[in-house]
Amino acid sequence: MSASTSPCKLVILVSGSGSNLQSFIDGINNGSLSADIAAVFSNRPKAYGLERAANAGIATEAIDHTEFESREAFDAKLMERIDSYSPDLVILAGFMRILTPGFVQNYHGRLLNIHPSLLPKYPGLHTHQRAIDAGDPQTGATVHFVTEELDGGPAIIQAAVNIETGDTAETLAKRVLTKEHIIYPQAAQWFAEGRLTLESNNAILDNTPLSAGGYQYND
Ligand code: GRF
Repeated sequence: MSASTSPCKLVILVSGSGSNLQSFIDGINNGSLSADIAAVFSNRPKAYGLERAANAGIATEAIDHTEFESREAFDAKLMERIDSYSPDLVILAGFMRILTPGFVQNYHGRLLNIHPSLLPKYPGLHTHQRAIDAGDPQTGATVHFVTEELDGGPAIIQAAVNIETGDTAETLAKRVLTKEHIIYPQAAQWFAEGRLTLESNNAILDNTPLSAGGYQYND
């Protein structure tokens, strides 16, 4: 955790549009997130998220996973570059790579992800379509600590969205994203304030273990 005098130092990893990254940049600019983004990384050199970062004057690094022989080799390079910034917290913001156990362990308790479902429902891909196909009344998004289990680490905060008649995966994804942009910077702010920790595979907020879905965000 960062000392109270210096803001929490973040490194953010993206693969695509980076709208979640943008919500962090906006939160820092409007004072709701007390943090600095030291660098933004992408495994896709053309990710729009890198442009967003550059436009905000943030250092960017593209490390193209297709240039590495193995997942381990890519993760080792990524880790080496991330660690050169000594971040307090590493944020996966639409980073579409499965990370090796060595990577996950290196950032134990300081690695967060956002997943577009109400975890533990629908880990993995195509979450919105799966929720529609199942006839669920609601879906949403969950911020969680990253552990070795894919999309399985302890939940921190969750926001639900009603599924309306006629919703498609696209219409739902848009509405869920607006919630993601609220809950992800909120989780990071709790961490920056020293209120959020990972202890024995439990997410702890204000000295209290969070329940299975994490804190339930309501508008
Ligand atoms: C989000 O839906 C996030 O939950 C998922 O990937 C998407 C990233 O969107 N993991 P963006 O790149 O932040 O716009």
